Amino acid sequence: MKYKRILLKLSGEALSGNQTYGISPEILNTFSTQIEELVNFGVEVAIVIGGGNIHRGVSGATKGMDRTTSDHMGMLATIINSLALQDSLERSGVKTRVLTAIEMKEIAEPYIRRRAVRHLEKGRVVIFAAGTGNPYFTTDTAAALRANEIDADVIIKATKVDGVYDKDPMVHKDAKKFDELSYIDVLNKGLKIMDSTAISLCMDNDIDIIVLNVFEKGNIQKVVSGEKIGTRVRKN
Ligand code: GTP
Repeated sequence: MKYKRILLKLSGEALSGNQTYGISPEILNTFSTQIEELVNFGVEVAIVIGGGNIHRGVSGATKGMDRTTSDHMGMLATIINSLALQDSLERSGVKTRVLTAIEMKEIAEPYIRRRAVRHLEKGRVVIFAAGTGNPYFTTDTAAALRANEIDADVIIKATKVDGVYDKDPMVHKDAKKFDELSYIDVLNKGLKIMDSTAISLCMDNDIDIIVLNVFEKGNIQKVVSGEKIGTRVRKN
């Protein structure tokens, strides 16, 4: 196994599937099936899921809403998605814990780093909800922060495409896929893998990011086993 402890970043927007809004049970099932396979394989899995299928902080702000309020709504959206994922995983028999950055004890455990690590060691899937608990930070940054805090071996960014391209592969037929990139390349070329705060955090702490297509079955497990899938972002 190349990566023993992973931080999986799932897109909230992908969770809506063919709908424009909300949670698709099929997509939820696709995610939880793959996570279950990883757990059975002996991987320690931590997850950050976005909230874009319910509320997008920045787009709310562009429509005139106060940015902080809009981001708070986005954070609450990630809690809804985290609970949905927890429910789906537990129905398949996977033990999970949701840890939230915004305290709401009636619903989930508060985020305590040492507790998160302990849960992982016990084979529980840990879902980090409510982003970093702060406005102006994306869930990508939350993923980078938590990955560093729990000493994850890699961040796996699950997307709809099979890696990072020099231009949008849905629009340009001649788009070229990168197998590997450095953090600096990502920042200089303005590639939209994660926002620059998240990339800088990974760069400073030297943690790999792998971008892959989560809808191709078995992709995450292949990466964990050491196969070259998607695009790898590394230090040099
Ligand atoms: P260990 O101490 O390693 O056995 O972990 P544990 O999570 O099984 O123990 P604990 O007794 O702390 O938790 C039992 C259950 O209560 C788990 O499902 C936790 O997620 C949940 N739980 C613990 N603390 C809180 C909390 O503050 N709020 C909510 N809503 N649930 C909690």
